[in-house]
Amino acid sequence: MFDQRIAALEYVRQNKEQSLKLLETFLSIPSISTEPANQPDMQRAAYWVAAQLSGLGMQNVEIFPTARHPVVYAEWLGAHPRTAGAGGAPTVLIYGHYDVQPADPLDRWQTGPFEPTVRGESLYARGASDMKGQVVAVMKAVEAIVKSGDLPVNLKWLIEGEEEIGSPSLEAFIAEHKNLLACDFALNPDAGMIGPEDPTITYALRGLAYFELRVFGPASDLHSGIYGGVVHNPANALAELIAGMHDAEGRVTLPGFYDKVRPLSKEERAELARLPTDEKHFLEQTGAPALYGEAGFTPAERAGARPTLDVNGMLSGFTGAGSKTVIPAWAMAKISMRLVPDQDPADVAKQFYAYLEARASKDIRWEVTEMHGGTPSISDRNNAGVRAMAATLESVWGKQPYFRREGGSIPVVAQMQRVLGIESVVAGFGLPNDNVHAPNERLHLPTWYMGIEAFIHFFINLGS
Ligand code: BES
Ligand code: ZN
Repeated sequence: MFDQRIAALEYVRQNKEQSLKLLETFLSIPSISTEPANQPDMQRAAYWVAAQLSGLGMQNVEIFPTARHPVVYAEWLGAHPRTAGAGGAPTVLIYGHYDVQPADPLDRWQTGPFEPTVRGESLYARGASDMKGQVVAVMKAVEAIVKSGDLPVNLKWLIEGEEEIGSPSLEAFIAEHKNLLACDFALNPDAGMIGPEDPTITYALRGLAYFELRVFGPASDLHSGIYGGVVHNPANALAELIAGMHDAEGRVTLPGFYDKVRPLSKEERAELARLPTDEKHFLEQTGAPALYGEAGFTPAERAGARPTLDVNGMLSGFTGAGSKTVIPAWAMAKISMRLVPDQDPADVAKQFYAYLEARASKDIRWEVTEMHGGTPSISDRNNAGVRAMAATLESVWGKQPYFRREGGSIPVVAQMQRVLGIESVVAGFGLPNDNVHAPNERLHLPTWYMGIEAFIHFFINLGS
């Protein structure tokens, strides 16, 4: 008997080279969503995605403009239920993003960030892992299934261009297109695996609140000899403010910051303790001389289930070669908080202002720009998508997947819960050492090829 699963797997195994080439063309488009100069590349990337989806035989392929970057939509709704009496084939909403983070610092890349290059077992380029590689993996799985028969499930695609800037237009888009996006659940491959041998499903993601804080002092830069000791140096003042944002136990001091944090149950702590992400894992992955964090919690808890505050960048005064004796007129820091259920980015903004009002000294002036946010999410682990993915990963990797809380953020997961009332299955095939958002981002190709096969199994399992 003709077996579609075997035929589809055979097809991707025969076409590895083409899969890689296709990903390379996508990766050569510098679709950096935060950078105004890359606006035309964002358009190109959206068209590229739309063209691929058309090529797969998807219907109603459409590029919807938004306030910032377009959303690409497509669908194929012709699946027939395989089993008599079943309620119909499921409809899966495939989520992805075609935007990437900036590539700087450029001088730290071994090859250009938008000149995809294979070295060893990995493909190096910005977006290779996060997440153009994941989007192409789903496309290739669907192609293989289509080439070997009919699609056993209905598919809808929602590929956005604003994920790396907090998906600011997406919630309104989803709300305006509720019917178009109606589905059983979403497949979201924007979070990866704990390790190449460790299949993983992410059931919770942190949220984000992001700010730029500027501190102003004298009207202009000053000679630090003539004026040192009579004005408050804005760089010093900013450092004092930042230093006060944590206490000696590594807790964040913004007033009320922990009020809405959902405590971890005994059961969940016991489960998280079984993950292979122990102290040694984090030391190896980070290369830091020692770990740091909130007292009373394990590294896996601190990185997934507890909120944090971090400086993402600072700028002030003289930073060139040599020395210059100056009191800068201003200082700036980019500061963001990772949030966990049930914290809300708008509350955290109020807490940030309250901290600054209470703690900033009167001899400086400060200003805050709110950059973007995202709500944390926690998923129902019993949804149909999660169950099908767990069975799929177990059959492909030969072991049960780990269930983990991810420290990164994917705002759409909470948006879909809120607006569409649907759950996501968050499972992709990136690895912790893929250097996402960093120089030399890469994709581990053997894991990627396994991921394509896993998506084939996933769709075929769902349809049978
Ligand atoms: N793919 C990541 C989310 C992620 C990060 C998953 C690390 C697993 C591990 C996503 O593209 C991302 O980077 N999101 C941003 C969202 C933010 C800008 C709202 C993030 O987490 O910084
Ligand atoms: Zn990212």
